[in-house]
Parts: sequence; C-alpha cells; structure tokens
Amino acid sequence: MKKFLINTSGCQMNEHDSEKIAGILEGMGYGPTLDRYEADIIIFNTCAVRKSAEDKVFGQLGEYKELKKKRPETIIGICGCMMQREDIRDYFLSKHKHIDLVFGTNNIHKLPQLIQRQLETNKTVIDIVEDTREIEENINADRKYSYKAFVDINYGCDNYCTYCIVPYTRGRERSRDPKIIIDEIVGLAKNGCKEITLLGQNVNSYGNTLDTEYTFPKLLEEINGIDGIERIRFMTSHPKDFSDDLIESYRTLDKLCPHLHLPVQSGSNRVLKAMNRKYTREEYLNKIDKIKELLPNVALTTDIIVGFPGETEEDFEQTIDLVKKIQYDSAYTFLYSIREGTIAAKMKDQIPDDIKHKRFQLLVDTLNEIGLKHNQKLIGTTQRVLVEEISKNDKTVLSGRAESSKLVHFKADKSLIGKIVDVKIDSVNTFTLHGFIID
Ligand code: SAH
Ligand code: SF4
Ligand code: F3S
Repeated sequence: MKKFLINTSGCQMNEHDSEKIAGILEGMGYGPTLDRYEADIIIFNTCAVRKSAEDKVFGQLGEYKELKKKRPETIIGICGCMMQREDIRDYFLSKHKHIDLVFGTNNIHKLPQLIQRQLETNKTVIDIVEDTREIEENINADRKYSYKAFVDINYGCDNYCTYCIVPYTRGRERSRDPKIIIDEIVGLAKNGCKEITLLGQNVNSYGNTLDTEYTFPKLLEEINGIDGIERIRFMTSHPKDFSDDLIESYRTLDKLCPHLHLPVQSGSNRVLKAMNRKYTREEYLNKIDKIKELLPNVALTTDIIVGFPGETEEDFEQTIDLVKKIQYDSAYTFLYSIREGTIAAKMKDQIPDDIKHKRFQLLVDTLNEIGLKHNQKLIGTTQRVLVEEISKNDKTVLSGRAESSKLVHFKADKSLIGKIVDVKIDSVNTFTLHGFIID
C-alpha cells in the first residue's frame, strides 16, 4: 500500500484542511505513516501568518533534499496559506528544486488530478486558485479524533487588519450552507463525536454571504439541539461583531462551553486604529464588562500583538493596563511580524527587535501571573473534562480539556479517552490544572 505523511503548521483551519487532505489520499488508496522514508507522498501544509512559520517550513523542506536523493520517487508537495502568496511560492520554488507539487487553500479537492499529473509528467505541478466564491463540499475528511471534531462554518476574511496576511491567503469571506453544516454535525454525533469546534476567521459574521437570513447564534441554537453533541466551541470571534445575541446564546444554550476567545491585539486606541480593528479600547472594555456581569463563569482568552509599527511605550502600557483590568485567563502573544503585501509592512517606525522582545517578556510575565491566580482559585473545584490523550512525559497520566478549555492532567486508565469525566482539582500551575477522577 502507498503511504502518505502530512506535516501541518498554523491554525485549526489548517489542521482541519490536513484532515481533508488525509481523507482524499485515503480515498486514493494511500495509508498514513509517520516515517518519512516510508512515505510515497509527503505534504507540507503551511501557514503564512508570521515569518517564523515560513522560516521553519523552509528549513524543514531543506532537510528533505537528502531523502529525495535516496528516494527520488517520493512526491514532495507543499500547500496551504504560504502557497497562496506568489512571492513566497516563487522563493520556495527557486530555492528548493525538489518540490514536485504545489497547490493552495482553494483547490484541495483537486489533489487526485494533480498527483496523477505529477506521476505522468514527473514535472513540478503547480495549481493555485487565487480567490473564489465557491465552496467545495464533497470532501470526506479523515478526522484525527472520533470524540471531537473541527467543523468549518465560514471561510476567508474581509476584515483586512493591516498586519494580517489571512485575507490574502484564504480569500473573501463566504459561509457554508447551514443545512450542510448541521448534516455534517449530525453525522459526526452518530459516530460518537461529543465536542464540536466551529471554525471561521470571524464566526460572528456567519451568514452574511448567504441568500437567506441566518446568524451565528441561530446556528449555535440548532447545533445545541443535536443529540449526542455535548460541547460546542468556536474560533474566532471578532470584537467588533460580538453582540448581545451571542451573550444570550451563552445564557441559554447548555452545550456552549463557558469560554470566549476575543482577540484584542492592543490596548491602545492609536494602535487599534492603525491596525484597522474597527473598535476602540473603550468599546472592547464595555463588551467585556457586560460579559463579566452576565456570564461570570466564562473564561476569557485573547490574542495580543507586541511591537506593531509605531507602538510607543505609552501604547504598550495601555495594553498592559487593559490586560490587568480584564484579567484574562490566558492569551496568545505574538511579536509583530512584517508580512509583505499587507498595509502595515509599508508603515514607518517598525519597532526594533530588542524593544519588541522586552515588551513581549513583560506582557507574558503579567499574563502568567494573572493566569496562575485564576487557576489557583480552581483548587478544590470539580471540572468536567473531556479526556483526550496520554501525557507524553508520564504514561499513567491523561490530559483533557475542562469546559473552560483549560488543560487538566490526572492519573487514569487510557480506556477513558474520549469520555467526559469529573476531575477534582488539587494543584495547579500557570498553564495546567492537576487532579483526580471522582465517581
Ligand atoms: N481570524 C482570527 C485569527 C487570525 S491569525 C482573528 O482575527 O482573531 C491569529 C492571530 O495571529 C491574530 O489574532 C494575531 O494576533 C496574530 N497575527 C496575525 N498577523 C500577525 C502578524 N503579522 N504578526 C504577529 N502576529 C500576527
Ligand atoms: Fe486577520 Fe483580522 Fe481577518 Fe483575523 S480578522 S483573519 S486578524 S484580517
Ligand atoms: Fe496560518 Fe493560514 Fe491559519 S496563515 S493562521 S494557517 S489561516
């Protein structure tokens, strides 16, 4: 049997695309392997959001030169967000002559034809669809887990935050038909799936491109009614579109997990404006106040960029101040990375690396201190945990996610993987909760 290996970087959308690629390859008779010397096709599914992601894949591809010499028949493919950018694509192809196949984010479904063409011609096959309104629905993903699943609800992004490459790699925003989404989730539930994570660059604007009137809260409500599904999560919502309706969804839908990821990016109005985020610090804080008042149990997390062009010490202090006011449970923090083709790449006053790093460290320390305090308050509580996997360091320890999305470790038998259990928390650190199962 022919074998495939997929190397994935980037966000959950890319992870799910890799599940689709795996599904397609399995449909063609390939089976999975983790051994690169056994693989007949190796695919790099790439992310372009920061330069670091690009450099990593560039380096990894270099390592495959040797392999290609020893096993010239192995097809080396590269796809994903980086390949949607002509400049990056050309650079990779000029430096790495051993690439056999290039495709993008909009034509995964064409993979069988592209592989066929590569095998017939033994030439590098390049197929990119620049932008599309089309949604290809006939792909059976080979999902990594049976008990939890990603489900795409909308693709692309029309927000054009000035630092971000995603609108140029994922195209214009488009929503999937709600009936298709519901059918997919009903099918997943029938196969034992308990947790659904709805994916979109901006889930709140779900429905905007549909012919019928349909909103994100309505979609949540329908999913909440599906038998077998016990937890609903989503990624990511944009603060400018976060509405009272969604607060109401948290209040009324028992399966919607008490976790909200609401990327703020900066605490300074000047920077938010330059980022084209379309909300002010005050508007963001008002929304958070309302959420805290009406949904006191919802864990809050965010994304923050440090060192956006022109960010002054005062701007950065505003971010620290906002973090302290909001008291996030945790956050993803990023050093601003110049992305060619975006508006911010041309801005003057790019921040020197040493200042970026200094601010970054201060921000991380502040967030960690707050995160630890949140976790300490959970000692003695019981958390409902979806058991996910065996710990890498200790085979007697399992890990899973609480409803709040916090990572929980506990000793238990691996037969519990995929089940939802009650764990009493007896110790914590900055990033994890530890406890024991109670009956
Ligand atoms: N659509 C989602 C996520 C987009 S990418 C959203 O809007 O929330 C995930 C995160 O990467 C962003 O929230 C942002 O914090 C970060 N990011 C995007 N572009 C970046 C850049 N050029 N440099 C550093 N971080 C970036
Ligand atoms: Fe990028 Fe902004 Fe769109 Fe998120 S909302 S994907 S940060 S442009
Ligand atoms: Fe990266 Fe593309 Fe996701 S750029 S963050 S993989 S949408």
